[in-house]
Amino acid sequence: MYLHPEFEKLTRSEIEVLQLERLKKTVNRCMNTEFYRKRFAENNITPDDIRSLSDLYKIPFTTKQDLRESYPFKMSTVPLSQVVRLHSSSGTTGTPTVILHTQKDLDEWANAVARCLYMVGLRPGDIFQNSSGYGMFTGGLGFQYGAERLGMLTVPAAAGNTKRQIKFITDFGTTALHAIPSYAGRLYEVMEEMGIDPRRDTRLHTLIIGAEPHSEEQRRRIEKMLGVKAYNSFGMSEMCGPGVAFECQEQNGLHIWEDYYIVEIVNPDTLEPVKDGEIGELVLTTINREAMPLLRYRTRDLTRILPGSCPCGRHHKRLDRMKGRSDDMMILKGVNIFPIQIETILMQFPELGNDYLITLTNEEANDLMTVEVELKEFSDDYHRLQALTKEITRQLKDEILITPIVRLVSKGSLPKQEGKAIRVKDLRKTLI
Ligand code: COA
Ligand code: AMP
Ligand code: ZN
Repeated sequence: MYLHPEFEKLTRSEIEVLQLERLKKTVNRCMNTEFYRKRFAENNITPDDIRSLSDLYKIPFTTKQDLRESYPFKMSTVPLSQVVRLHSSSGTTGTPTVILHTQKDLDEWANAVARCLYMVGLRPGDIFQNSSGYGMFTGGLGFQYGAERLGMLTVPAAAGNTKRQIKFITDFGTTALHAIPSYAGRLYEVMEEMGIDPRRDTRLHTLIIGAEPHSEEQRRRIEKMLGVKAYNSFGMSEMCGPGVAFECQEQNGLHIWEDYYIVEIVNPDTLEPVKDGEIGELVLTTINREAMPLLRYRTRDLTRILPGSCPCGRHHKRLDRMKGRSDDMMILKGVNIFPIQIETILMQFPELGNDYLITLTNEEANDLMTVEVELKEFSDDYHRLQALTKEITRQLKDEILITPIVRLVSKGSLPKQEGKAIRVKDLRKTLI
C-alpha cells in the first residue's frame, strides 16, 4: 500500500527544514567522489559553507557533459558492491550517460511514483498498464515498481504492438494506462479500426501522459477521445525517471516533490535565477539519493514555477507544463535524440556529403523521422543506392533506437540558409 503520506502534506516551512537537512547530508556524501571534491576545491568551497538553503548558489552547476565525462562509474558515492541497478542513455557515438542506484534509491523511487499515482486517485484494485519501453527506458521499470508499490495489478505491456496493447486493455479490464501523448493518438486510431469504443468497451478512466512536450489542448483532446482524465507526468533518467513532478487532480501544474529535489529556475544564458514565475531552465538538486546525487543539475528543460497555492492543499511547488528545451535535443516516440548522433553516423559513410536534413512529422498519429542526406557523387546504380540506404537506416536505428526513413538526394539539393545547411525541421502538428 502507499507509503509516507507525511511527506506529501508537509507545510512550506517543514519542507525547507527537511531540505536543508538533506542538502547538507547530500553535499557531504558528494565528497566521496573525486568529481565533486575537485569542483568544490576549484570554487573554494567546502561542505561547511552550505549553512542555509540560500547557500546553494555557491555550488557550481552539474551538466550532462559532466555525466558523460564521469562515465560509467566515476560519480558513484558508494562502492560498486552497493549499487544494484544502472540506467544508461542511448547511443554509442558520443559517450552515453549512466545513473546508478542503491536498493534504497530504488525503494525511494518506487515510493515517489506510488505517491504520484495515489495523488491522481489510483488505488489497489485498479489495473495499471504500462506502454513504455522497458529496459533502459526509465518509464518502464519506474512505473512498474511504483504501480506495484501502490498495490495495483500491473500489466507490463511495454512499447509497440498496438493491437495486443488494446486486447490487454479490453481483456484485463485495464483502468489506468501510461502512454506518451503521441502514442495515445495511435491507440485511439487502432481502437477505431478494431471497432472498439474506449468509453463503451473499456474500463479505462485514467491516463498518465508524459515524456514529451504536449499542449493543454492536446491533453483535452486525448481525454475526450479515450473518455479518461489525463495527468501530466514529468521526469528524467538523471533524476531516476518518472516521479519527479506530477499533476494532482486539479490538473493545474505539476507538483515537484521537494523532499526529493530542490528546484531552481535560471536564465539559460546567464545562469542567474529568473524572477518568480518567469520561464527559464529547470535546475534540480537531488537530496534523497545515495548512489549518485547530483548538485544543481542543468536539465535543459524550460518551464516556470506557478505562483499561488494549489487547492488540493499540497504545498510542494508546481511546475508549469514544459515549454521546450534550451538545447537541440529532440523527443520522438518517447526517445531522446540529439542531431549530433545522426550526423556522426552519416559522416562515417564515405559515399555521403556533409549536408543532411532531419524532418519530423506526425501524419496519421504516427511520428516519423525522415533523414535526407546528400550523396557526394551522382549515382544511378539503383541496387547500390538501395543497399546503402538500408545500411544507413540500420546504423541509425542502432544509434537512436527509432527507425528513420532515409532518403539519398543529389549534391546541392537540400535547402540552405545564407549558405548554411538547415539541420532539423519539426513539422509535427497536434493531429488528435
Ligand atoms: N510507446 C509505445 N509504443 C510506441 C511508441 C511509444 N512511444 N512509439 C511507437 N510505438 C509503437 C508503434 O505504434 C508500433 O506499433 P504498431 O505498429 O503495432 O502500432 C511499434 O511501436 C513500432 O513502432 P515503429 O514506429 O514502427 O518503430 P520504431 O523502430 O521507429 O520505434 C520503438 C521503436 C517504438 C520501440 C521505440 O520508439 C520505443 O521504444 N519507444 C518507447 C520509448 C519510451 O517508452 N519512452 C518513455 C519514457 S517514459
Ligand atoms: P528521459 O531521460 O529519457 O526520461 O527523458 C527526459 C526528458 O523528457 C526530460 O528532460 C524532458 O525533456 C522530457 N519530458 C519528460 N517528461 C515530460 C513532460 N511531462 N512534458 C514534456 N517533456 C517531458
Ligand atoms: Zn495540487
